[in-house]
Amino acid sequence: MTMRRKLVAGNWKMNGSRAALAELDTIAAVAAAAPGVDVAVAVPFTLIDAASQRVPELAIGAEDVHEADSGAHTGCVSASMVKEVGASFTIVGHSERRADQHETSHDAWAKAAAARLQGLNVILCCGETEAERDADRAERVVQAQIEKSVPDNADGSWFTLAYEPRWAIGTGRTPTLDEIAAIHAIARAKLRMLIGDAAAGVRILYGGSVTGANAASILDTPNVDGALVGGASLTAEKFVPIIKAAA
Ligand code: G3P
Repeated sequence: MTMRRKLVAGNWKMNGSRAALAELDTIAAVAAAAPGVDVAVAVPFTLIDAASQRVPELAIGAEDVHEADSGAHTGCVSASMVKEVGASFTIVGHSERRADQHETSHDAWAKAAAARLQGLNVILCCGETEAERDADRAERVVQAQIEKSVPDNADGSWFTLAYEPRWAIGTGRTPTLDEIAAIHAIARAKLRMLIGDAAAGVRILYGGSVTGANAASILDTPNVDGALVGGASLTAEKFVPIIKAAA
C-alpha cells in the first residue's frame, strides 16, 4: 500500500507584507519539529524572494504562474521567474482565479505543465460551486475538471490535487466528512483512469475553511492527504495547530 505523507499548505492569497513574514519563523520551526508532515506556504509574488531567503528550510511557492515562459503578457509572471526567486512550487487553477480571471481547466493544465517543465511542484485545484452541489453535480464537475486539467505525466513526486468546494472557501462552512470522503474517492478513481498506478502516490488535499478545530477530523478522512489552508495560514497561531493535527 502506498504511504502518502501529509501535506499542509498555506495560501496567503492577496494578503501579507514583509512584516507578516515573521509568522513564517514559527511556522518553519514547527514544521522542522514535525518530520512526518510536509509544510508549504504560497505567498504573493512580491514576497516569494524575501520569504524563501528568510526561511529556506520551508517550501515557499507561488499562487499562480503564466503558461508561457516569457513574452508579451503584461502583468503576468512565469514559472521560471518564480523559481529564480526561490519558489519550489505553485498553485494552479484556484477557484478564485477561475472566478476572477475566468481561467479554465485547460488553463490550469497548461500552467501545471509549464511549472513542471521548470521543475516546480504543483498543487492543482478543483471544486464545485454551491449551485452545482445543490444540483447534485459536484462529483461530475470535479471529475470533468480533473480530466481536463491533470497532465498525463502527473505523479506524486511533483503533483498534488486539491479539492476545494468553492462554497466552503472563507465561509466557515465545510462539507460533511462523508461528502469530503466521497469526492476524494472519486478524484482518486479519476486519477487512476488518467495516470494509472501513479494515482496511488498523488496527494489529494482538502481546502475550504480548514481550522485548528476541524483539521484533525478532516485529515483523518480516507483519501485526504493534507489541507490547503487560506485564512488560517496567515498567522502562526492559527496555522500551527493544523500542522500539529497532521503530524
Ligand atoms: O486555497 C485555500 C483556500 O481557498 C481555502 O481558503 O480561507 O477557506 O481556508 P480558506
